[in-house]
Amino acid sequence: MAFVLSAERKSILDGLRPRYPNAKALTIPLLHLCQEQEGWCSPEVIDYVAKELGVTGAHVQGVVTFYTSYLKQKPGKRVLWVCRTLSCELMGAKALQEHIESKLCIHAGETTPDGEFTLLKAECLAACGQGPMVQLDDDFFENLTNEKMDKILDDARKKAPKVAGTWSSLYLPEKKE
Ligand code: FES
Repeated sequence: MAFVLSAERKSILDGLRPRYPNAKALTIPLLHLCQEQEGWCSPEVIDYVAKELGVTGAHVQGVVTFYTSYLKQKPGKRVLWVCRTLSCELMGAKALQEHIESKLCIHAGETTPDGEFTLLKAECLAACGQGPMVQLDDDFFENLTNEKMDKILDDARKKAPKVAGTWSSLYLPEKKE
């Protein structure tokens, strides 16, 4: 079925248009808004973005495949990113990833059979002083040990997944006092 951006996110997009030099420059923010709504950058999302901005599907596909933050496959209910860039790597990110893989019985890039978690490797998430760290949906968890990680995963299973809204709020105009 064709993807259509919600009216609320469409109005955010319309508010962004005057702030960007041309429609093509909106590819990244529009993909964020679409992924927030759809959960991933499906082929239907790519078609929608191409038509909405008047660019080629190949251009949109190129952006989606270049940035690891765009999901190319439908994820589970929660997405867990493990930072594997240098600072976190020096602080034990590889061992942490292996611990998570063992606990969830999946490898990075996979989703647990119950659909609860998708585990992905991330490039630097800008919390380099607090490694090793992960991002679970919109939340950062830092200075991790295996024990802390176990608790985070166990606690997450007990809670309903967060309703995404980070990107919409980032692109809303600042409120004037
Ligand atoms: S290296 Fe992990 S947050 Fe920067």
